[in-house]
Amino acid sequence: MSPAQLRVLRADIVTLYVDAIVNAANSSLLGGGGVDGAIHRAAGPELLEECRQLGGCATGDAKLTKGYRLPARFVIHAVGPVWRGGSHGESKLLASCYRRSLKIAAEHGARSIAFPSISTGVYGYPIDQAAHIAVHTVREKLPTLPGLKEVIFCCFSHNDLVVYESVLLATGAA
Ligand code: AR6
Repeated sequence: MSPAQLRVLRADIVTLYVDAIVNAANSSLLGGGGVDGAIHRAAGPELLEECRQLGGCATGDAKLTKGYRLPARFVIHAVGPVWRGGSHGESKLLASCYRRSLKIAAEHGARSIAFPSISTGVYGYPIDQAAHIAVHTVREKLPTLPGLKEVIFCCFSHNDLVVYESVLLATGAA
C-alpha cells in the first residue's frame, strides 16, 4: 500500500476540497476569531447549532461536525493549548490535537485532511516548535491509519509556509 502524502500549502483552509478540515477552536466550541471565525462564517449558522450540542471539548482533544456549506464534508474541532512558556505540558497537548484529529477523521472514513497551524495564532505557540510537533506527530500516527491518503498542512502566511516546508524537507518528505 502506498504511504500517505504529506503536503504543505498556503491557502485559506475554508476553500479546500478535502474530506475533513481541522479547526483551531477553543474549549467552548462556540466560535471565535482566526481560523475558527473563518470556518464558522464559511460553513454557515448550522455549524454553530451542531457545536452547541457537543458540550465543549477539552484541550488536546477534538470533536467532529459536518461541514455544511464548506467544500469539506467534515470539520474536526481541535482545542490547542495556550502557550505559557513551554513547561505547562503544551507540547503533549498540541501533539494530542493532531493524533485525535487524525483518528477521528479515519473513523469517519476520511481519506484527506487539512490542518491549520493549531495554537500558533491567538494562542501564541512559537511556529517553529509547533510545526515540528505537527509534522512529527502526523508522520508517527499515519502508519496506524491506512485509510488516510493525504494530509495537508495549510499555512496562512508566507512565513509559516517556509517553516513547514523546511520541517518537511528536514524529515525527508517534501
Ligand atoms: N485558513 C488557514 N489558516 C488560518 C486561517 C484560514 N482562514 N485564518 C487564520 N489561520 P488562530 P489558535 C491561521 O488564532 O492560535 C480563536 O479565536 C493563523 O494564521 O486561528 O489555535 C479560537 O476560537 C495561525 O497560523 O488559532 C480560539 O479562541 C493558525 O491559523 C483561539 O483563536 C491558528 O491561529 C485559538 O487560537
